[in-house]
Amino acid sequence: MSEMGLDSYDNTQKHGWRNWAWNRVVERLPEFIGRVSFNVKRMSNIDRRVLEAKTVLYLSGPDDFDRQVALRLGFRNENIIAVDTDPGNIAMVRRNGGIGIVGKLDEVIMAWRSDWPVDAVIADLCCGLSLESLMLIRSMLASIAVPQSAVVAVNLQRGRDAASNQFRSEVDAASPEGLEKHRGRAFAVAMISESGTPGAARNAECIQLSRSWLAEGMPVLNSYKSRSVRMDSVVMRMPLRHKVATDCLTEYGQTSLLIGRKPGRNVPKKLAALRAVRTMKSNRETIPVRNSL
Ligand SMILES: C[S@@+](CC[C@H](N)C(=O)[O-])C[C@H]1O[C@@H](n2cnc3c(N)ncnc32)[C@H](O)[C@@H]1O
Repeated sequence: MSEMGLDSYDNTQKHGWRNWAWNRVVERLPEFIGRVSFNVKRMSNIDRRVLEAKTVLYLSGPDDFDRQVALRLGFRNENIIAVDTDPGNIAMVRRNGGIGIVGKLDEVIMAWRSDWPVDAVIADLCCGLSLESLMLIRSMLASIAVPQSAVVAVNLQRGRDAASNQFRSEVDAASPEGLEKHRGRAFAVAMISESGTPGAARNAECIQLSRSWLAEGMPVLNSYKSRSVRMDSVVMRMPLRHKVATDCLTEYGQTSLLIGRKPGRNVPKKLAALRAVRTMKSNRETIPVRNSL
C-alpha cells in the first residue's frame, strides 16, 4: 500500500470521488435505468444478482481501492478486472486475490473478446485530454466486446499539459460549440463526434446529434481539485454508433487497423491467461461446501 500523504489516491476527496463514480456507473446499467425507486445503497437481492454478473474494467493504481468499493456494491471479485501499465500495481492486485492485467487500457479493450462483454469501463486517468483519451474512445467505439448498453466513466486532468496539445486542438475543431473547458464534458463531446459523424464538425446535424445524446446518454459530470490540478469527470452511457462506427464494429485484428495502431501482440495472450485464472477462481468459489454430518 502506498504511504499516506505521498500518494494522492489515499485521501477523503479521492475516496469520495471513487464512490461517486462507481455508484453513477451502477445507476446507468440498463437494468436500473428508469427505476424511480432504485437506490444503490438499498439494492434488493435480485438487483445484487444483476450486479454480480456485470464485468467492469478499471485502472487500479497502487492501492486498488476501487476493488473494495466494487465488492461492497455487490460486484463479483472475478468480474472486476484491474488494468494498469505498472506491473507492480497489478502484482499487488493479484497478491490481494484480485484479477488484473498489465497493459494499456485501449489495447486491452481492443483485444477483449465479445463472448465476455464488458459492461463498464472506469478510466481514472492521470492525463489530460490527450491522444490516450482518443485511443480509449476509439477502442470502446470499435470493439464489439463493449456493447451499446455499456457505461463509461473517465476522470481527466483539466488544463494544458503538453501531452494533450495535439488532441485538444482536434477536439476543439470537432466540437460543435468549441472545446469544453470541463474535460469530462469535452470527452463526452469527443466521443459523440467519434461515434460516426466524421467531418460533421460544427454543422447543424452534429450539434443536434450531440445535444440529443447528451440527454439520452445520461451524462453526469463531476469536478474536484487535487493539489494544484483540477480533475474533471463524466459518467455516461455509450453513445449510439452511427454508420461508420457500426460498419467497423469488429473483433481484435481489424480493430487494431481501425484505430491505426497495432496493440502489443502479447495482449491477447495475457487475456487468455487472465480468463484461465478467472475460471479457476470462479470454480473455487462455487465448489459446494459439505455440511458436517
Ligand atoms: C489515477 S490512477 C488510478 C487510481 C485508482 N483508480 C484509485 O482510485 O485509487 C491511474 C493508474 O492507471 C495507470 N494508467 C494510466 N493510464 C493508463 C492506461 N492508458 N492504460 C493502463 N493503465 C494506465 C497508471 O499507472 C496509474 O496506476
